[in-house]
Amino acid sequence: MYYDYYAGGAEDEHTLRENMQAFHRITIRPRVLVDVSQVDMSTTILGYPISAPILVAPTAAHKLAIPEGELATARAAAAAKTIMVLSYSSSCSIEEVASSCNAVRFFQLYIFKRRDISALLAQRAERHGYKAIVLTADTPRLGRREADIKNKMIYPPEKNLEGLISINIQCVDQGSKLETFANQMMDASLRWEDIRWLRSITSLPILIKGILTHEDATRAVEAGVDGIIVSNHGARQLDFSPAPVSVLEEVVDAVKGKVPVLLDGGVRRGTDVFKALALGAQAVLIGRPVLFGLAAKGEGGVRTVLEMLKNELETSMALAGCPCIKDITRSHVRTEHDRLP
Ligand code: FNR
Repeated sequence: MYYDYYAGGAEDEHTLRENMQAFHRITIRPRVLVDVSQVDMSTTILGYPISAPILVAPTAAHKLAIPEGELATARAAAAAKTIMVLSYSSSCSIEEVASSCNAVRFFQLYIFKRRDISALLAQRAERHGYKAIVLTADTPRLGRREADIKNKMIYPPEKNLEGLISINIQCVDQGSKLETFANQMMDASLRWEDIRWLRSITSLPILIKGILTHEDATRAVEAGVDGIIVSNHGARQLDFSPAPVSVLEEVVDAVKGKVPVLLDGGVRRGTDVFKALALGAQAVLIGRPVLFGLAAKGEGGVRTVLEMLKNELETSMALAGCPCIKDITRSHVRTEHDRLP
């Protein structure tokens, strides 16, 4: 049941496959005879230095993978000198994760019908040194995840959402209990105007996650967000939404460099990171590979996943003739939209 929950996507899982396949359709245009005796992957996000443009995406309930849960993930992210985005549905509390490592952390938030709960979570994160709020905007309700519906997916009580305040939810005895829970919590009436409310309750920078069109990218910039994450929630929300990498350039063009653009969904190789950067992303985030590393070998497994991606990116940069992150440009990739010269 937990494997299905981690691995699965919405409905026919067309978008789940597409998230990876869209990367496969992009080729890299390497340059030769560039001095790549030193390759430097370091960069910054919102001014915070990281060793490579690969962050840990917010994913729920790490205790389903191992008993230590998010504490192990946070230590692995710190060891890799990168940023972890803690999910609102973390199975360890905001405070526990904060005291387990001194790495830079962001906190992912949904806005609930009960605004006081969202406000409290954001303020707890700010008080405990989280450096940004990641507002996930693609979840007015949960997508139709058929594996979870068949499995009657539920978190066991001992792995409850410590990050949240316990709320009594009426669970029906069929379908995904998670879906029932989420749909009772989420404020499906949320609108762009509500970003102003979020601004009023936190002084942290706000990144908006779940943008897939130039229209929404433009609105996000107008709404004053500090960054955009191009994402389809790991293909768990709307099936047949586009693969993030296939719409990245559209978003980057609309944003015109006003705020950083990040991407997640289907990043499995260093070459994928390279391609996303060439199309204008400042960094990528990784979801499922981190969970699988965690389930296989705890903190060490997540470290291995992050090291593998970093090593692959380093090799890709060397072989493509890019000694630094800023050397990776649009002309280093060819997409299916590019005409052959
Ligand atoms: C997620 N994701 C997610 N996103 C979010 O904003 N809040 C959340 O609580 C969760 N929870 C969650 C659980 C699980 C099991 C998965 C797989 C994903 C989405 C996540 O942040 C990210 O967008 C995707 O996981 C990226 O795609 P890949 O790397 O998994 O392909």
